[in-house]
Amino acid sequence: MKISIIAAVAENGVIGNNNSLIWRLPADLQYFKQKTTGHHILMGRNTFESLGGRPLPNRTTVIITRNENYTAPEGCVVAHSLERALAHCVNDEEIFICGGAQIYALSFACATDMYLTRIAHSFEGDTVFPHFDPSQWTLVETEQHAADEKNPYDFSFNHFVRK
Ligand SMILES: NC(=O)c1ccc[n+]([C@@H]2O[C@H](COP(=O)([O-])OP(=O)(O)OC[C@H]3O[C@@H](n4cnc5c(N)ncnc54)[C@H](OP(=O)(O)O)[C@@H]3O)[C@@H](O)[C@H]2O)c1
Repeated sequence: MKISIIAAVAENGVIGNNNSLIWRLPADLQYFKQKTTGHHILMGRNTFESLGGRPLPNRTTVIITRNENYTAPEGCVVAHSLERALAHCVNDEEIFICGGAQIYALSFACATDMYLTRIAHSFEGDTVFPHFDPSQWTLVETEQHAADEKNPYDFSFNHFVRK
């Protein structure tokens, strides 16, 4: 099973503010949808709530929380550790770790792949993508995009595989 981190990261490492996304980049939302549709998506309770507390269509949402009493809507699974979240996904060939910072940090140890959208702009924010050791990862694919009328910043899609 591939365990793939997927994140959009600003030039200064910021990924969010006040438990929400900061930028509007429809091309990245489309990329996220295309990668994750049909798969399990794992996320921390904060990220789940930042998305409106609803499952994303055509994916199985696994919410990670320490709260034993947490109840989630239909279409979601609740897990109380990353290990237990992964155990829900054994029949999937690729699962996606969708953040936020706490869950990315937990996942570096077991992730096989990383899809990082790099946004060529800095933002004010309270949450940053955690530090990882770049020497452990090989960039296997990169795709540069210039800003356009719908996407106000230059950005790139980058696929890394663990060495
Ligand atoms: N740019 C991007 O690609 C991207 C993607 C995702 C999220 N974000 C942003 O990231 C921010 C949220 O990130 P965050 O770091 O604050 O929160 P988070 O990682 O989404 O969720 C944190 C929560 O996960 C649970 N948790 C953490 N470690 C755990 C463990 N070891 N075992 C069990 N449960 C555990 C806890 O839930 P309980 O408190 O319920 O126990 C904790 O409060 C938001 O601003 C969001 O918009 C950005």
